[in-house]
Amino acid sequence: MNEIKIFSPATVANVSCGFDVLGFCLDTIGDEMVIRKTAEKGVKITKIVGAELPYEPEKNVAGVAALAIMNAANPDFGIEIEIYKNIKPGSGVGSSSASASGAVWAINEFLGKPYNKQELVGFGMKGEALASGAEHADNVAPGIFGGFTLVKQLNPLKVVQLPTPSELYATIIHPQIEIKTSEARSILPKEVALKQAINQWANVGSFVSALYTDDYELLSDSLHDTIVEPHRSKLIPHYDKVKEAMLNAGALGAGISGSGPSIFSLCKGEAIAKKVAEAIVEVYKTTGIEFDVYVSKINAKGIRIINLK
Ligand code: HSE
Repeated sequence: MNEIKIFSPATVANVSCGFDVLGFCLDTIGDEMVIRKTAEKGVKITKIVGAELPYEPEKNVAGVAALAIMNAANPDFGIEIEIYKNIKPGSGVGSSSASASGAVWAINEFLGKPYNKQELVGFGMKGEALASGAEHADNVAPGIFGGFTLVKQLNPLKVVQLPTPSELYATIIHPQIEIKTSEARSILPKEVALKQAINQWANVGSFVSALYTDDYELLSDSLHDTIVEPHRSKLIPHYDKVKEAMLNAGALGAGISGSGPSIFSLCKGEAIAKKVAEAIVEVYKTTGIEFDVYVSKINAKGIRIINLK
């Protein structure tokens, strides 16, 4: 094998109640990457289509993640990377993480898979940190593991894979404005009140239980965020109207996807997910802001191979 082409999916981090810990993987939106083995050692980025991003590996999230795994494994070959971005940077559905996790996942295949998924998340996080200014794994983990994940701790890294209820769909709107994760993090309070913290960790616990028991009602009742959403929603035009439209159309819950501006909802079944999509198009088409809407089943597998040469 000299070349591998992969699909590296978009992901939704935080999932309302689980800031920096919960995430899930999407299926209908993602980047494509071609990773090639080269005789010359080192990491090169040879092509970037669909976004203006740096080619120097040390300044590119895929490059930084690739260097992390290549430096650890120190193989007698090098790699070159082509990135075809379908996920816009600053969209809130894990654009930087898709590039970082795609690179390490594909390189692991070339190395003969010496690293397990958790170790790959560790390498991917190095790239993600470059983009957001802080290490967090809640986008990288669902991309590499697939389905829902919980980042139990960062140091040492521990990712818990969670089950994916079979009827669960996500509907996402991406208003075409850019919010930098680093900026969306800088506006958050450094401390939270005990009462709020109690609500939030109760919701994380019940959300996880709902995934294990296919309890859509409990899942719906757990999708709340009183800590981060009040601050970040101000950065997203028409956030409250979109959320209300999603819930009125039958979504189980809705919230900010990652650090925004994308807004996600979780729905029971594709029919409701499509109704939610129609409802948010109605809200957003009058705003004058361009937007994309995606309906996706939860992707339980994560990154996948498109072809090998
Ligand atoms: N948990 C991170 C944040 C995800 O919300 O800042 C960023 O994509």
